[in-house]
Order: sequence, then structure tokens, then C-alpha cells
Amino acid sequence: MTVPTRPAAETAPAAPRRRLHVITWGCQMNVYDSTRMGDVLAPLGYGPAASLEDADMVILNTCHIREHATEKLFSELGRLRRLKDARRAGGERMLLAVAGCVAQAEGAEILRRAPYVDMVLGPQTYHRLPEMIAEAEQSGRAVIATDFPPESKFDHLPEAALPAGGVTAFLAIQEGCDKFCSFCVVPYTRGVEASRPAAAVLAEARALVASGAREITLLGQNVNAWHGAAPAGGEWTLARLLYALAEIPGLTRLRYTTSHPRDMDDDLIAAHGALPALMPFLHLPVQSGSDRILAAMNRRHDAAAYLGIVERLRRARPDIALSSDFIVGYPGETAAEFAATLALVREIGFAQAYSFKYSPRPGTPAARAADQVPEPEKEARLAALQDLLAAQQQAFNQSQVGRRLSVLITGRGRHAGQIAGRSPYLQAVHLAAPETLIGREITVTIAAAGPRSLAGAWPAEDEEHAAA
Ligand code: 5AD
Ligand code: SF4
Repeated sequence: MTVPTRPAAETAPAAPRRRLHVITWGCQMNVYDSTRMGDVLAPLGYGPAASLEDADMVILNTCHIREHATEKLFSELGRLRRLKDARRAGGERMLLAVAGCVAQAEGAEILRRAPYVDMVLGPQTYHRLPEMIAEAEQSGRAVIATDFPPESKFDHLPEAALPAGGVTAFLAIQEGCDKFCSFCVVPYTRGVEASRPAAAVLAEARALVASGAREITLLGQNVNAWHGAAPAGGEWTLARLLYALAEIPGLTRLRYTTSHPRDMDDDLIAAHGALPALMPFLHLPVQSGSDRILAAMNRRHDAAAYLGIVERLRRARPDIALSSDFIVGYPGETAAEFAATLALVREIGFAQAYSFKYSPRPGTPAARAADQVPEPEKEARLAALQDLLAAQQQAFNQSQVGRRLSVLITGRGRHAGQIAGRSPYLQAVHLAAPETLIGREITVTIAAAGPRSLAGAWPAEDEEHAAA
């Protein structure tokens, strides 16, 4: 995914003095980090480059969660090296930075294999980009920052703002993870769990709303473990934070992701029933339906506990739609254990989900297991699971046809005369309506459903009659 960076501050000249291009792989946290790196660089005169070829600085923001991350990085770096050489031949300099989780995990190796890289920085150090650039430019040598500094990067970032016309925003409230699921690199690349103070989160949310955000998604590797300093002393939980955010005028929609089942406490479940702004959609990874595999994964919950949480969520908010993550072919997973995953999916019924083949990650306990599942078996299990999940997603989308849904209009549609938005259940909705509706929440009648999106009609039927 390539993330456009924000334009430089309003006072900057229309054409940026230096052109930045950020390529982002991986999760929403990386998308957030990429925009924040753009914010950090804006005071130095960096604005978005028209194209990769045009950039004075290229940042690759990498992901290490599943395989091929390193190979993908080096093949992209090979391409960029040729670009960098061509620029140098023309007497120009192009700075090349590798950021994110691969940088964190493989910093020294990156510089060994790709000595033409100018900067390597982990997810905790991007607030230091200005000084790193100065050092790289002065010394002509590569600069590396992959430590976990004692100061928080969040205390050093400029105020967040959306690009013109932005309607939805990410806001990182928590980083790192202490759960140590046996397959996962996150605790090693993103470090221990850390929560931002409530006051900082509220200030960033207000700034985002002031620049046009109507919907904010709170982000964290383990977001519902958030427990931040309260504005007036003491500590808040995520539920309490959501109540406070819901009071910000103009902020009509809230979401949070990604959660761990163990941290779905009663207050948070109750908030889903009490807060209209909290959207009826929750991404809650379960990974497997087999208790033996869940224990081997060190998930600290079993299938019954997960089902119990879903039941309580549905009691609190009957229309809540669920999303999840699944891993198939975890070491030692038998056919019967995989069947338990299919059974859990059938029992719950997901509105959408992500599913992956287990991929051994260097340094994680599961990677050392002797009983790795053969690749063809993993592929067959993934295909079976994805067929089931796709059918459930299609059925969920189909169940919206004829309903009137509130849709937040986020931008232009794919075709002329079309606009696009999001349903409360995070489905993409396309409709023929004027662009002046961008940024507004409108009622739309759902006319048709596809596998991944809905088609809407506006004005919704009743409103048409009311207008007549
Ligand atoms: N192999 C496959 N999938 C993984 N995930 C995390 N680590 C691995 C791995 N080693 C998946 C999990 C997690 C999601 C973000 O990525 O399902 O919830
Ligand atoms: Fe990784 Fe999520 Fe488990 Fe943390 S809770 S170790 S981020 S899968």
C-alpha cells in the first residue's frame, strides 16, 4: 500500500522544497506511522512527491508479521538502488530509509546487504528522523536507530491533522504487546506494551476532528489492553476513554483495533451497548477453534471463552458484526483440530475475516517446533477456511439489502457521479450522489451487495417521500 503523505504546513510554499515518497506495507499501525513520519518531516520542507521517480527521500515502512518480508524488502531496495544511482548520475541526491518492523528486527543485516541505504529506523524512533537526516547528509554514512528509547516518540511528534478532505483517521493510543503468542514477532519488534496518556489521546482526537475527521479508529497492537494515565490522576481503561471521546462534538463514529479476547472486560462490552458512537463492528482475533492449539499458541483463552465474549457482546449490541484473524497449519495442527476452527466459524458467523497460513517467524517459540505442517496441507486448509469465510461475508452483505444504513461519505467513487463511504459495519458503500455530501453521514437504502462492497441508493426511500 502506498500512503500519500500530508501536504506541508499551510504556510509552506505550494510546491514542497523536498519531495517525500513513503511506501507502506502491513497493518494499520504502519499506515498511521507513515502519516506521522510525513508530519515529522513537514517542518523540514518535505511534502508529497508526485511519483517515486521524483522523490528526494523514499521511506520503506516495512512489516515482519508473515513470511517473505525480508525478500520483498531487498527486491524493492534493488529497484530503488537503480533509481538512486540514476539520480546521482544527474547530480541529485535521493535519501533512502528503511523503517518499521523489518528494520527493527534486521537493521544491521539491511545495512550489510544494502549499504546504499541511508537510514534504518525502528517503529519507536521515527521522531528522530530530522536529526538522522542531518547526520546522514553530513557524514555521508548510514545512520541506524533501532533502540527502544526511554522517551516516547509520541511526546515528540507534531500535532496531527488530516489531509484536506479527510474524513476518517487513525489514532495510535497503545503500542507493543506483552501477550507473547508463540507465533508472533510483535512483542519483539514493537516492544512491551505502552499506553499513551488519556489527555494526549483526547488532544489528538480534537485536533483530528478540527481538521475534518468524523470517524476515528483507535489503534494498538493490543488496543483493549490500553490503560493510560487519566487527565485528573489515576488510570482509565479503554471503556472510560471511549466515553470521553464520544463527548467530542463532531466525532460521530469510534472504532478500535486490534483487540485480544483476554482484555474484553465487562465495561468495554457494556460500552458497545451504551455508546451510539461506538460502531457495531469489532475485529477480535481468535486464531483457532481448537483448545489444544490455542493453548500451544499461548493465547490464554479457549474456544468457549471466545464464544462467551461474543454472546455478551451480542447481548449488549444485538447488531454487532464480527471480524477475526485465523492461522491455519500451526505446528502440530491435526485435521480434527482444523475442523474445530471451521466449527467455531460456523457457530459464530463472521461479517468478514483475515486468514493466514502459519509462517515460522525467526526468534519465536513456534518457529522451533519440529512438527511443522506440510505446505500443501496448509494450503488446502486455508482454501477451505477462506471459502467458508467468503460465503459468510457474502451472506452478511446480502442481509443488508433493503436496509437503510447510515453511511459516512469518505470521498469520490470509482466512476464519475459516484461517491463512496462506509457503513457502520465497515463495508464500503458506493452510490450515485453529489460530491457535496463528502464528510457527511447520510441515510442510504442498500440496493445490492457484492462480495466486498454494497451499492446504495440516495436519498433513502423515506426521505424521498418526505421531500415530495
Ligand atoms: N504466521 C501466520 N500468521 C500470523 N499472524 C501473526 N503472526 C503470524 C505468523 N507467524 C497473524 C495473526 C494476527 C495477524 C495480525 O497476523 O492472525 O492476528
Ligand atoms: Fe502478537 Fe496479537 Fe498475540 Fe500480541 S496478542 S503476541 S500482537 S498476536
